[in-house]
Amino acid sequence: MPTFLPRLEASSPSAAGLASSPRYVQVARTLESAIERGEYQPGNALPAERELATRLGVSRVTVRQAIAQLAERGLVQRRHGSGTFVAPGQQTQRIQHPLSRLTSFTEDMQARGLSAGGRVLSFAVGHPSAQESMKLGLSPGQLVYRVRRLRTAGGEALAVEESLLSAGRLGPLSAEDVQDVSLYALLQSRGAEPVRALRQLRAVNADDELAGLLGVPLGAALLATERLAWDAAGQAVELARAHYRGDRYDFVMELRESAT
Ligand code: GLP
Repeated sequence: MPTFLPRLEASSPSAAGLASSPRYVQVARTLESAIERGEYQPGNALPAERELATRLGVSRVTVRQAIAQLAERGLVQRRHGSGTFVAPGQQTQRIQHPLSRLTSFTEDMQARGLSAGGRVLSFAVGHPSAQESMKLGLSPGQLVYRVRRLRTAGGEALAVEESLLSAGRLGPLSAEDVQDVSLYALLQSRGAEPVRALRQLRAVNADDELAGLLGVPLGAALLATERLAWDAAGQAVELARAHYRGDRYDFVMELRESAT
C-alpha cells in the first residue's frame, strides 16, 4: 500500500488546516486527494478499514464514515465481503476554466452539470481603499459593497470570492440578495452587466482560514486571482479577488500566433 497517507494528529498541518471540519471529512478529503493523484486507480481496492485507521491515526468508525461519504459521492464502491474499490472513471473531475471567455462561476458550473452555491461569509458597505477606488473609477467618498462568498459546486467548496461593487451604481443591496445567487445575473438585472475583464493569477498557499473554508490542508496550493470587469460603456462594475483550490481547477488559455 502506498505510504503517502499522513496521520491526522491534532498538531499536523493538515489537521490544523481542516480544524473546522469533522474528522471523517478530513479523512475523506485525504483519501480523495490520493485518488486524484492516481495513487489508487479506478478498480483498485482501498486498504482495509483497520489498516486505514492505523495509518491515519483515527478510529475505524471515522474511516467508515469517510468511506460512506465517498461512496455517496460516487468516488468509491463498496462490495460486500470484498472491500472498497475506486469507482471506474469516477476520479474527481478537475474544473477547466477557460481564461479567454468572460463567464460567471454559475455558468462555469452549470456547463458541467453542477449546481453552483454562494454562501455569504461577510457583507459590508464601506469605503474602498485608494487603490480600490482608483481601479473601480470611483471618486473619493463613494461607497462600495464588499461581498465575500464561499463558492460551491454540487455542495463541494471550490473557491472563496470577494467582490467589490459600486454601491451608487447598484442601488440597495443586502446579504440575502447575493446569497446563493449569480452575482453576474444580478449585475445584469441592474444594468451593470460585465462584458470585459482583466484577470491576474498567482499561486499562493492556503492559510489557516482559507484551508478551513475550502477543506484543504494548511499550505495547500491555491490560485489567487484578481479580476476587474467593465460594462459595455467601459465603466468598472466589479473588482473581484478570489482563491480557487489548486487541486480542483485548471485555468486554460488559448494562445494564437501573433498576426504581426
Ligand atoms: C467568476 C468571477 C467573479 C464573479 C463570479 C460571478 O467566478 N471570477 O469575479 O464574481 O464569476 O459568479 P456568479 O454570477 O455565479 O455569482
